[in-house]
Amino acid sequence: MEFENILVAKQDYLATVTINRPKKLNALNKATIEELHNAFKALNDDASVKVILLTGSGEKAFVAGADISEFAHFSVEDGGRLAAKGQELLFDFVENLSTPVIALVNGFALGGGLELAMACHFRIASDNARMGLPETSLGVIPGYGGTQRLPQLIGKGKAMELVMTAGMINAEEAKEYGLVNYVVTQEELLPLGEKIASKIVRNSSVAISKAITAINSGFKDGVNGYESEINEFGACFGTEDFKEGTTAFLEKRKPDFPNK
Ligand code: COA
Repeated sequence: MEFENILVAKQDYLATVTINRPKKLNALNKATIEELHNAFKALNDDASVKVILLTGSGEKAFVAGADISEFAHFSVEDGGRLAAKGQELLFDFVENLSTPVIALVNGFALGGGLELAMACHFRIASDNARMGLPETSLGVIPGYGGTQRLPQLIGKGKAMELVMTAGMINAEEAKEYGLVNYVVTQEELLPLGEKIASKIVRNSSVAISKAITAINSGFKDGVNGYESEINEFGACFGTEDFKEGTTAFLEKRKPDFPNK
């Protein structure tokens, strides 16, 4: 896959997507959002890819936000379209992928950058990372799902404060808030992502995709998470992975999942 603003690498079951506009602190312009959509779609459709890591290039930023230079002159209609298109192509798209996506937050994750990290299934940060939703300092609000996903992850009160103050939190605070699962040095970030991926890949990718659907259901309007869990749980019983997983357990051996 050839792109201008992102790098995509694949090794065995693991794909790494790197947002690659370091001079602009990896800010998300329209072209980058479209490329990310295309890359995630292709990787999700590739049965050999079992885990996707997402990070930013350079040592300073994961993503410093949506590209402010692109929307500074937008009208009300343009603004609404920007948020809707971005959510559809990237943020909701990533959250609902059946392949696990882990954000490796290697520096600033601000505005759309934090929103992108929050759309991933979970997050690991390096100790230099700084996170926040500074949109109100620009006279706007988070538009890529930040007003919804931040309170889901850290609670309403802390989310209100972070959005109202347009402040930044450091990696340790983010871990304390439950926004990231681990904090490591920048050198340890990719190895830890790979280590967690190696644990995920031992399990049924079909079951994992159904778990993603069930967990996400609890956060969707008009969808009953418990009902979704019942449906996805039941559907597992019709999969080859379920037969292999349970048979392997009873035969006291490691499963070899066909991932079907
Ligand atoms: N959109 C567009 N360009 C951005 C950007 C963004 N969100 N964030 C950084 N950049 C660009 C800067 O304009 C600068 O470009 P230039 O060298 O052509 O002038 C380059 O990236 C480097 O950023 P700079 O501000 O010089 O780095 P810094 O170390 O002084 O500050 C930040 C780092 C992250 C604190 C600062 O860049 C910043 O506040 N960025 C905007 C964050 C934001 O509000 N995001 C939400 C957007 S909705």
